[in-house]
Amino acid sequence: MEINSGRLESELAQLATFSDAPAPAVTRIVFSETDLRARAWLKERCQAAGLQVREDAVGNTFARWSCNHAEGPAIGTGSHIDAIPNAGRYDGTVGVLGGLEAIRALRESGFTPKRPIELLVFTSEEPTRFGIGCLGSRLLSGVLNEDKAAKLYDSTAASLDELRQAAGFGGSLSSVRLPTGHYAAFVELHIEQGPLLEQEGVELGLVTGIAAPASMRIDVRGEGGHAGGVLMPNRRDALAAAAEIILSVENLALATGAIDTVATTGICDVFPGAINSIPSHVSLGLDVRDTDLSRRNALVYAIKEAADAVAFKRRLSIKTELLNADDPARCDSKILDILRQSCTEEKVTCMDIISRAYHDSLFISRIAPTAMLFIPCRGGISHRPDEFASMTDIANGVRVLACALGKLAQ
Ligand code: GLV
Ligand code: MN
Ligand code: MN
Repeated sequence: MEINSGRLESELAQLATFSDAPAPAVTRIVFSETDLRARAWLKERCQAAGLQVREDAVGNTFARWSCNHAEGPAIGTGSHIDAIPNAGRYDGTVGVLGGLEAIRALRESGFTPKRPIELLVFTSEEPTRFGIGCLGSRLLSGVLNEDKAAKLYDSTAASLDELRQAAGFGGSLSSVRLPTGHYAAFVELHIEQGPLLEQEGVELGLVTGIAAPASMRIDVRGEGGHAGGVLMPNRRDALAAAAEIILSVENLALATGAIDTVATTGICDVFPGAINSIPSHVSLGLDVRDTDLSRRNALVYAIKEAADAVAFKRRLSIKTELLNADDPARCDSKILDILRQSCTEEKVTCMDIISRAYHDSLFISRIAPTAMLFIPCRGGISHRPDEFASMTDIANGVRVLACALGKLAQ
């Protein structure tokens, strides 16, 4: 399989210029002006490749190659182009532009697929704007319904509905859900965002499962006051209580003894946030993940118990809210076999791997046989401006992807 890696490299560089942060950082928040300009550029690239482009009511973008008007369930590939604040240029984008390159490579090779092959660019994989990740794929798979989506707001209190419509995506959100059988198979190409492939010296990862993510908010309400005037024994300091909770989160995750258990307190908003004022209110945002659903659920419960114990001991009020809890996904064994075979044909070394990050494939796997391919990334670094994957590794991934899409579409 021949791909044009120079074209892909230059497109990855061009896409990185659509950013609200100075290079090498990339910030591309869903429905921002920058996101919309990037989408327009990408649509133009897809059309130039001869693909038929369609957008749904939340801005998920489908670019279809229907060779000789092939119909029926399609073979899908794709990922996302939104980027968290101060991110790098490869997360999501290698699956989108790599998917486009794979389709172009198949076309240019003279291959005639019996099924349509479709590139899917998901809206808002990142939770930055609406507080929930994989917005587009949740709606596509029916995991998130229209009523719940109508309750999503950004930090400026603008609703998903008004923002998507202002971005040019109209129609009812209920129309986003894909009909059963839309995809016969779906393969997402992505950077690993972890160190294992590089450490093992293996060129490509075949993702066998995706860990189950959950998120929680813990609201701590104590009593504020003058930092000089209120004596220590009389304090009900919300931040001191939150600090105990944060350490419990870390300890409880370590205590499972499982390397697949991870828990992170990524948000700590302190009110009033003045150096000479005792914090009266703290809001914590937590991310808890595991490949084992019952172990993940037990950890979520243990964190709630630990927070309640801190509330009792320190005489404050603590409210724990489960914002979201998803099941893990298992990748499709038949697609994995085809990916393994494609690696052999393309002379690319591979190994099985678990995805500890979540991806749109977590939700697409609910409605179609799905698998993922991981490209090594330097030092396992991601969600940072110094995120890096070599063009050799990216090209290996795209060649294997193209080969597998060809087999699946036959
Ligand atoms: C996706 O970006 C994740 O947080 O796993
Ligand atoms: Mn990401
Ligand atoms: Mn991603």
